[in-house]
Amino acid sequence: MTILQGKIALVTGGSRGLGKGISTILAEAGATVIVNYAHNTTAAEETVQIIMDAGGKAIAIQSDITNEEAVKQLVVEVKEKLGGTIDILVNNATGPQPELSLEEITWEDYLDQLNFFVKAPLFLLKAVLPGMKEKGEGRIINIGSEVITLGNPNFSSYVTAKSAQLGMTRSWASELGPFGITVNMLNPGFVPVERHEGIDASGYAKNVPLRRVGLPSDIASTVLFLASNQSKFITGQTITVNGGNTYGI
Ligand SMILES: NC(=O)c1ccc[n+]([C@@H]2O[C@H](COP(=O)([O-])OP(=O)(O)OC[C@H]3O[C@@H](n4cnc5c(N)ncnc54)[C@H](OP(=O)(O)O)[C@@H]3O)[C@@H](O)[C@H]2O)c1
Repeated sequence: MTILQGKIALVTGGSRGLGKGISTILAEAGATVIVNYAHNTTAAEETVQIIMDAGGKAIAIQSDITNEEAVKQLVVEVKEKLGGTIDILVNNATGPQPELSLEEITWEDYLDQLNFFVKAPLFLLKAVLPGMKEKGEGRIINIGSEVITLGNPNFSSYVTAKSAQLGMTRSWASELGPFGITVNMLNPGFVPVERHEGIDASGYAKNVPLRRVGLPSDIASTVLFLASNQSKFITGQTITVNGGNTYGI
């Protein structure tokens, strides 16, 4: 499959979890993928190796995407190493997501989540925008969550920050549409990844109409659609990928 041939894709937090599946599928489709990560170099190198073994193109770049200078440097490094600018930005990275009651939670906990899901995407957008505007096209895909519909208790910092991504997605889409840049949001349901090891997902799965939890490949294939020309007339939208666990938004 070569539908993304010649494209450069940046997947934040692309080294493991959903990001690993997203990086892999975009590379399979022909994109050169920047597998971004913050701490775990081994995981990032493994993901790059998997992609290269399958005949794809990828490089790992360590960068704390919550730091504006680091983000600017990341984009400079991409230009130096790949000789081009980023066509597809997938805002996927996450830090820890603490579940805390309203008595326990602090404003700093809220800021921690906003740093990942609003601040970092803004820094990244500003860094990739000149290149996308020059080309007259671009794809921004924000990874949200079904929690914006569920409004889960004891999770308010995460739910709030993911909900902020919705307005952000729509406003960016309106402003950037005239430049050929689409902005969409993909809301996964529960997709057990490395960090969920040992967690029993059966209680969640039994209430899902399709009777299972998500797989990274379920999310990755939807990202591929949003990154491709197949979705060229879709912007400012949310797509929920959760086996029918929620409706709306
Ligand atoms: N998994 C689910 O069930 C689920 C459900 C709904 C939504 N989501 C959303 O999907 C996205 C991915 O979640 P996940 O479960 O796949 O996460 P994950 O497995 O915990 O992976 C997180 C990724 O983010 C990277 N990262 C952490 N801090 C970073 C920083 N400061 N700068 C750059 N990269 C950083 C990590 O790299 P290092 O290992 O190097 O730190 C890792 O690659 C998140 O936005 C999450 O909210 C997930």
